[in-house]
Parts: sequence; structure tokens; C-alpha cells
Amino acid sequence: MRILDVGCGVKKFPGSIGVDRNAASRADVLCDLDHFPYPFRDNTFQRIRAIHVIEHVSDVIRAMEEFHRLSSPSGRIIIVTPHYTDFSSFCDPTHRWHLNSFSFRYFGADNAGFGYYSPIKLREISVHVRLLAFWRWLGFELLVNRLPRFRRFWEHYLCYVVRGKVMEFEFEVIK
Ligand SMILES: C[S@@+](CC[C@H](N)C(=O)[O-])C[C@H]1O[C@@H](n2cnc3c(N)ncnc32)[C@H](O)[C@@H]1O
Repeated sequence: MRILDVGCGVKKFPGSIGVDRNAASRADVLCDLDHFPYPFRDNTFQRIRAIHVIEHVSDVIRAMEEFHRLSSPSGRIIIVTPHYTDFSSFCDPTHRWHLNSFSFRYFGADNAGFGYYSPIKLREISVHVRLLAFWRWLGFELLVNRLPRFRRFWEHYLCYVVRGKVMEFEFEVIK
């Protein structure tokens, strides 16, 4: 299986091809994710991992389109990024974006009504939200992840108090 670790830093996923712009990273290919296209052919990878990276790029939609192009049909895209209510989202001045668990809905089944933003399609396999430990112990994390309607309620009404931490998304690439 060919795996691309986008913005791999120094923790490149074992067996993957790492991409980063920082020469001190463990990247196999140095490239700037803000310049398109990325230096790989269409349909090259079965897995694309972007771990704590998407919040750094200049154009989230364009980067996601590039991940889609590089992925084989039915390939998987794995994204890990802070929830915007976490301390880590704002304490790093290199973060350009502060996202929530619905931030990739434009690529979903009905493009959330915004199909003209991007033509690519992704099927959401899973979204997992981790909450701060105190709220996890009280059972909120279970509710947020087990009940999609509760997750929406949490995003709308609770998350400034019951704060999120990290979100993990897995998408299937539809071509
Ligand atoms: C927070 S680190 C995450 C590193 C690694 N994925 C991990 O989980 O440890 C973000 C990485 O993205 C890289 N990065 C940020 N913006 C980039 C860009 N425009 N082009 C290429 N790499 C970028 C940084 O150099 C850094 O290695």
C-alpha cells in the first residue's frame, strides 16, 4: 500500500512517503503545500495522512482537492487537527485555520448545499472528537461520538464550555 504522509515533520508514518517543506523534517520530498500541483501523479496513493497539518495550509479546499487527486479511487484520507475550542488551536501562531467537526462537510454527499465550492466528493467514514479529560470522564466524549445529533448540539451550544481537543477524520475518496 502506498501511503503519503503530508506535512510529516519528524514523525513520518512508518512505510510512508513523507512530504514537508522543512528540510530538517524526515521528508522524502520537500514541497510547499501552498503551491499546486503537488509533485505526484494522479491516483498514486491508497492512503493520505495529514496529521496536524491542514490547519497550517493557506487554502484548505485546494489542499483537499490535491489529496483527492493524488488518492486512488476508494483510497482513504486521514486528517487529524485540533478542535477550535482547544488551547492548542490558538496557541500556535502558525495555525491559519480553527476548525470544527463539520469543517469538511462541503465534500460530503450533498456538498452541504455548496457544491459550487468544489467538485470533489469524499465519503465520511468516521469522525472522532476527543474532549478535554474532565469532560471525557463525565461521559461527554462518548455522547459526542456515539450520537451525531448530540455532536451537532454540542458544536452549537456546549463546546465553549465542554471544550474539544483533537478531531480525527477518515474519508473515502469517491472518483
Ligand atoms: C505540527 S507539525 C506536524 C508534523 C507531523 N505530521 C506530526 O504529527 O508530528 C506541522 C508540519 O507541517 C509542515 N508544514 C506546514 N505548512 C506547510 C506547507 N505549506 N508546506 C509543507 N509543509 C508544511 C511543517 O513544516 C511541520 O512539519
